[in-house]
Amino acid sequence: MPLRCLMLVTICVVLITTEAVSDENVKKAVGEEVSLRPARIDPLVSSIIWKHRNSSGFVVKAIEWDKDDDDGVNIPNQRFKGITTLDEKTGQITITNLTVKHGGLYTIDINNKEQEQRFNLKVMEKVLKPVIKLKKIEGNPDVMYLICEYSETIIWRNSSGEILIGSLHHPKGEFITVKFTGNPDNFYTCTLDNGASTETSDPVYERELFKDFWGFVIASVGMVFIILFLFIPPCHDYCADCCRRHKTSQMQSHMWNFSTHLPGHRL
Ligand SMILES: *[C@@H]1O[C@H](CO)[C@@H](O)[C@H](O)[C@H]1NC(C)=O
Ligand SMILES: *[C@@H]1O[C@H](CO)[C@@H](O)[C@H](O)[C@H]1NC(C)=O
Ligand SMILES: *[C@@H]1O[C@H](CO)[C@@H](O)[C@H](O)[C@H]1NC(C)=O
Repeated sequence: MPLRCLMLVTICVVLITTEAVSDENVKKAVGEEVSLRPARIDPLVSSIIWKHRNSSGFVVKAIEWDKDDDDGVNIPNQRFKGITTLDEKTGQITITNLTVKHGGLYTIDINNKEQEQRFNLKVMEKVLKPVIKLKKIEGNPDVMYLICEYSETIIWRNSSGEILIGSLHHPKGEFITVKFTGNPDNFYTCTLDNGASTETSDPVYERELFKDFWGFVIASVGMVFIILFLFIPPCHDYCADCCRRHKTSQMQSHMWNFSTHLPGHRL
């Protein structure tokens, strides 16, 4: 019996601990909506009260419902008016058009009994659309630094959608090093994620990144053409001269070959 008793106690302790640590964390961006719902609800539910506690510990009723109340649902607090609804059957509360002030701890009383399950809502400002900064590397016209200077989580991607690993940038953010590939349509993006919302930068194309390098290549090719152009007339004359001489000598050697191959001239 003592063993069975011990097992029972263990099970009880485990149950109590899991019940106690049942705060659910929810992150949302400003302007979004959230729905919170108890895992279990008494089918004979006669009253529901959702309470909100802000970070200063100030508690207000977000929404309340009583079966015997003719008014039905009541929303006493201005902060929740017009944006909060309740499903009496499931106990689910829905708040639309969230502001940072809706962040905090939500608890639910069912039939005047506070439930174990609680919800920790964090409402964060929508993340801004990032802009990638470019930095040249002295003496390396075929390499560039791309910098995303933000505090949020940063995700770099290239045009094939592949995630690229960035390096820490001082004082904040990350950078990647991009090499000239020769494909001007390759691009790179930086995405910010604050846990509640994400935003992706405009793509940065290789053709913009290596404008100078392309310019350098075009200038070099241009130079070669200019040099050729400048030297073509004398070169042409020289070549023509050279060809003429070559032809003549070829003719001579042909004739010579021809003569040596004449059967009559064989030894
Ligand atoms: C909590 O709510 C009270 C009453 O509305 C308000 O005075 C206080 O500033 C709030 N605290 C925070 C951190 O929002
Ligand atoms: C949402 O909140 C903003 C700012 O409080 C307000 O301007 C806007 O009208 C609200 N929209 C709705 C649909 O309630
Ligand atoms: C994207 O990155 C991956 C991994 O570094 C690479 O294999 C792939 O070729 C890249 N694609 C482009 C279009 O740059």
